[in-house]
Amino acid sequence: MTEASVHAEGDVQQSRISDVIRASAEHDLKVLEKYIDEYSFPECKVVDVQDVATGYTPLHAAIASCRPTDSGHEPESSAKLDAAAATLRFMLENGAIWNQLDKNDETPGCIAYHLSLSDLYQIMVDAGVRAEMILNRLEEYDRMEDEDEDENEDENENETQNDSENKGGTNGESAHQEPASTAQPEVNGSAYLSSALSLSGDKLLDEQQNGVMMVWESGIMQKSADALLYDPGLRILNIGFGMGIIDSHIQTHSKRPAGHHIVEAHPDVLEKMKKDGWMDKAGVVVHSGKWQEVLPRLAAEGEMFDAIYFDTFAESYSEFRQFFSEQVLSLLEESGRWSFFNGMGADRQISYDVYQTVVEMDLFEAGFNVEWKDVELPKLDQEWDGVRRKYWDVDHYRLPVCRFMD
Ligand SMILES: C[S@@+](CC[C@H](N)C(=O)[O-])C[C@H]1O[C@@H](n2cnc3c(N)ncnc32)[C@H](O)[C@@H]1O
Repeated sequence: MTEASVHAEGDVQQSRISDVIRASAEHDLKVLEKYIDEYSFPECKVVDVQDVATGYTPLHAAIASCRPTDSGHEPESSAKLDAAAATLRFMLENGAIWNQLDKNDETPGCIAYHLSLSDLYQIMVDAGVRAEMILNRLEEYDRMEDEDEDENEDENENETQNDSENKGGTNGESAHQEPASTAQPEVNGSAYLSSALSLSGDKLLDEQQNGVMMVWESGIMQKSADALLYDPGLRILNIGFGMGIIDSHIQTHSKRPAGHHIVEAHPDVLEKMKKDGWMDKAGVVVHSGKWQEVLPRLAAEGEMFDAIYFDTFAESYSEFRQFFSEQVLSLLEESGRWSFFNGMGADRQISYDVYQTVVEMDLFEAGFNVEWKDVELPKLDQEWDGVRRKYWDVDHYRLPVCRFMD
């Protein structure tokens, strides 16, 4: 291909992208259908093209064209909103990606949210829930397959070992052996656990300056302790000490617990806990190690709790799901309550809303009811100075309180 023909080809692609974006902004389903049949692009599907100047996909364009004019909503706006809704559905049915970002770092749903277009917003939330549920299930199958492969490898190793033992090859000694979506952590668990932490007055940071815990979350921790300590004399388990904010609230709570267990895995945090006297506090038991290893041990020892709080760092959503579907069942009293730090997808409202539904469905499947309490948050601004990623950008915190279903 000559340079001129490459340019000509590029021009054709650009003009086709503009066609698709325009048809979507005009909610013209017939024309869109025709483009889906007739056009093709080397890098992506027709429904996922992006305008070069704005980064809009057809979904962004369909929503943004409903922006009210200066004089308020146009008289035909309700019909226009219906047409926009039909366009979104059509695009999504044809495989459009729900959370592509435009040049303003906004997903289509973010635009609907800012324009208060609640029906269109809900369509995008529902699309997000569907996509995330599928991704999570696929991740789960991958994990199960990996586990099966590991087991098979172990079995093969044992067989080989037994074979050689049977053949008298040895003297009897035997040889022997671990987040999607906007909610995925940026660091993985094992990298985090071996990185050095720094604690300034109001935040705990990892080596890459990721915020592990920040003092502005104190109100959330206080309310979480209040929601869990519904009576004096309970036995409570907290997973993830961090800055010890919730544990300090638990210790000074008017409904003082009878037993307070803490699981913490990071050596630097454990060292600070030791320095601050947490290992010797009456009624407090500290378990060093990852919850994945500590909790099955506690369950095997028959430990039970009336209240459990879960707030770790750098772990995936699937690990959290494993926590509540496998561990809570054996550690929580029938009448008990448990809660978790609900920060999944909290860097944008739509992801927060999507994850609220995803987790609600998974909790239901695992046998839990969840009640949400809204918590007002302080205005956050300078808190993020020196922190690599602003992990919180929604107005309200939704505090979950989970119980076994009747
Ligand atoms: C966000 S902080 C907890 C903050 C705490 N809620 C507070 O009020 O200060 C997360 C803590 O979980 C710990 N952690 C991370 N992964 C863990 C694991 N798998 N098992 C136990 N602790 C873990 C981290 O080292 C960190 O101390």
